Amino acid sequence: MARADEVSGSPRTLQPSDHSGATAPVSHRLPAPPRVGGQHTGPSGARRLHYRVADVSDATRLYRPATPPGHDPSRAAQRAADPRGWRYEDAALDAVHRVIAERRDIRRFRPDAVPEDVLERVLAAAHRAPSVGLMQPWRLIVIRGTEPRIAIRDVAARERLRQAGNFDERARQFLDQKIEGIVEAPLGVCVCCHHGTPGEEILGRGTIPDTDVYSTACAIQNLWLAARAEGLGVGWVSFYRLADLRAILDIPERVDPIAYLCIGWPDERPVRPGLETTGWAARLPLERVVMAERWVGEPGDEVGDGPTANGTSRAPDREAAISARDRSDRLVKPGGSLGALEPLIERWAATSGAPPPARIRAGVLVCAADHGHTAHGTSLFGSHVSAQVAAAAARGETAAGVLARDGGHRLLVADLGLRGPTPEGVLDRKVAAGSADMTAGGALTQAELHAALAAGRELAAQLADDGVDCLVLGEIGMGNTATAAALASLLTGAPASVTVGRGTGLDAAGLERKRAVVQAAVALHAQAATPEAMLAAAGGLELAALAGAVLEAWERRLPVMLDGYATAAAALAGARLQPAAGAGLFASHLSAEPGHALVLTELGLEPLLDLRMRLGEASGALVALALVERAGLLHAQMATFAEAGVDES
Ligand SMILES: Cc1cc2nc3c(=O)[nH]c(=O)nc-3n(C[C@H](O)[C@H](O)[C@H](O)COP(=O)(O)O)c2cc1C
Repeated sequence: MARADEVSGSPRTLQPSDHSGATAPVSHRLPAPPRVGGQHTGPSGARRLHYRVADVSDATRLYRPATPPGHDPSRAAQRAADPRGWRYEDAALDAVHRVIAERRDIRRFRPDAVPEDVLERVLAAAHRAPSVGLMQPWRLIVIRGTEPRIAIRDVAARERLRQAGNFDERARQFLDQKIEGIVEAPLGVCVCCHHGTPGEEILGRGTIPDTDVYSTACAIQNLWLAARAEGLGVGWVSFYRLADLRAILDIPERVDPIAYLCIGWPDERPVRPGLETTGWAARLPLERVVMAERWVGEPGDEVGDGPTANGTSRAPDREAAISARDRSDRLVKPGGSLGALEPLIERWAATSGAPPPARIRAGVLVCAADHGHTAHGTSLFGSHVSAQVAAAAARGETAAGVLARDGGHRLLVADLGLRGPTPEGVLDRKVAAGSADMTAGGALTQAELHAALAAGRELAAQLADDGVDCLVLGEIGMGNTATAAALASLLTGAPASVTVGRGTGLDAAGLERKRAVVQAAVALHAQAATPEAMLAAAGGLELAALAGAVLEAWERRLPVMLDGYATAAAALAGARLQPAAGAGLFASHLSAEPGHALVLTELGLEPLLDLRMRLGEASGALVALALVERAGLLHAQMATFAEAGVDES
């Protein structure tokens, strides 16, 4: 596969679009599509255009517009040539580390006033802190008056007494000093966190609402460091009850006081934490707090049950992804203007080692099987229909057959578990004559599951050996949306009401029936704890094979284009078996099945299209593949600003 930035065969020609001596703003003077000066066909079949810069008149040449103020003025090429180019000079870097090392918690203060300009710099440093969704939740109450500070000292003293039993005499003296510092220091700053309006959506706080408090802590640290650099002392007091501080400082309910800081010129210059000097605690060695790759247990730790990698796997090709992004940054277009196509190109490169080619030759793997639960009326059609559809697909008569033929793709239709004999033209990889009824026990035995996973791997390997650019997954199996729903429920914990849809067109009564079947299966297999156990519980044979194909594709660097709900559920099982493999998945479209969106969200994938297709067999994936080819074409053939003639900024 050719790299996109090998747009070879210079000299290149960009044809002028306008001979009138254009008066349009520079950024609007886009040249007409280049006249083909010569073509060659790359290894992937992509046609390449050659441009000759010299033929472009100055009036129509595309100049890269100057970077507007407030935007990143650096260029991709500059960043690639000097990745460390953002570094400070040595003296400034040393100063940063010095202030971090020499910041101290201060408890004794001189009475001298803090000049307003010094205070303002320190407060401004706090306000430069990072915050989730840029919500800037910190509010800083500067307290100069003695009265409120005495009141705060009193509530702190009361708290100290309440906790006195927890400390020895030495520690109590140490804390007493801090409490006196509240009045001794000329200033107090109460740093509050405003939690925002209830119900308001804050970018980045969806999963961890407390990130507003963490952001406020960042502001406090900024203030602390800036104060240290000024020679000012800061002492953090948290010996108070929120309600007491609220009452003294009129702080409303939606706001929490996070820290009370004593600020003034220090009457001590400690070289290490006071608590270290008094022998209370010592700084842990760095190795105690830094771990490699995963949590290294300390006594008493309970290990969480997050996804665990099943064996080792290859890592994404970061260099290829970054080089694709570098090229996207250089193309004659505003940065990021190809929208979702740009991350798609990057992820494709991270998977395969190169951006998508302009002409993709896909390996289309359609796995077929039947499902035991159809005895309960979960599908409109009987199992003989699965075999008929598989045979028609293999003959190229169905939607996937038409699209695969037209695209020059390699189509494999495989029988993983059709109930009857393998139809003509369909590859025989039959593991069993259909799966068992998932409401009566496991749909697959352990042996069947492993055989289906292995068959899927073998089929994907066969396509990889054939030199295809990617793997497109499809399935055939009457009733397999119910299987997909059960698998999705087991994998995500979502109830059947969310994961079950109408499939091939069930009516309301049919939908109720299908929901009840899925619900019963999920309840029966509630104890299934691993992705293997869940796949064995729900089946089906074609979904297990597709999960195996996902794993093989990742190892073979083949991007995987998913089709509808069933392929997505199978891919989710694959990604749970080997989390690394999730990076190589692409969602072609969002189907009419309601659980599809849930599964794609779980996979972290955004579908390229939303067409309410529900045909299966890889049809939606093949429709979307044309978009990936367009993305590859643009990436390979759009000129860069340098190629267009000018990149002055
Ligand atoms: C969140 C937080 C709350 C603190 N609360 C108190 C406090 O109530 N009383 C006190 O004496 N020190 C308090 N401190 C100061 C710590 O004890 C001090 O930072 C620590 O001993 C390390 O010393 P150093 O800041 O000089 O490195 C607090 C520090 C933090 C980060």
